[in-house]
Amino acid sequence: MTHRIHPSILNANLASLDAEIRRIPSADAIHVDVMDNHFVPNLTLGLPVVECLRANHPGTFLDAHLMIENADAHAPAYAEAGCESVTFHLEASQAPIRTARQIRSLGARASLGLRPQTPIEPLADLITEFDMILIMTVDPGFGGQAFLDVMLPKIRRTRAIVEASGQEIWIQVDGGVSEATIERCVDAGADVFVAGSAVFRAEDPDAMVRGLKAMAGARCGGH
Ligand code: DX5
Ligand code: ZN
Repeated sequence: MTHRIHPSILNANLASLDAEIRRIPSADAIHVDVMDNHFVPNLTLGLPVVECLRANHPGTFLDAHLMIENADAHAPAYAEAGCESVTFHLEASQAPIRTARQIRSLGARASLGLRPQTPIEPLADLITEFDMILIMTVDPGFGGQAFLDVMLPKIRRTRAIVEASGQEIWIQVDGGVSEATIERCVDAGADVFVAGSAVFRAEDPDAMVRGLKAMAGARCGGH
């Protein structure tokens, strides 16, 4: 299984994004947290900034994580802007399949985000409409929160549903992922790891990205 590390720039210096992104050349993608102050009690950045990131970093995989209401209306624009992956939340969508199909038709990977309290089981039949499932391992809204161990069984159940589907669907974990928690996530079946504070609060952020990737790979190899 391939493991991917997607550092979250929420925890970087948001006024120096270009420089911050250049600090982590080993990252497999840049995880861009879009918050609207309604779906979550925090406000970050939106489409105009994402368009600038796209223009300034043409070779970089942009993993947009939309924590915004009315996802069906807003998510496709992030695919149009050139993000390689667009995650919107089930809790903010009335028509997740239609929205996923729109995102895919615009050439991006479609991904579904789930708050901690949202179960995966009712989604088993629609999982193949998505290229990735994002399991939140904190309540969304802020970086630097403690990893929720109680989410591990849900990651396991998601892995079982993905395997049963026969499709290659990534399972992303987001929130509190660090050297202290990544192995538990690997064991549970995640393969895409968002790490915000763990990377950007490290003395050498790129070394942390490489370290997390090595830990994930070693853990998986041991099974
Ligand atoms: C939280 C965001 C995360 C956050 C992760 O709502 O979706 O991407 O930045 O930050 P850490 O890794 O510090 O929990
Ligand atoms: Zn995120």
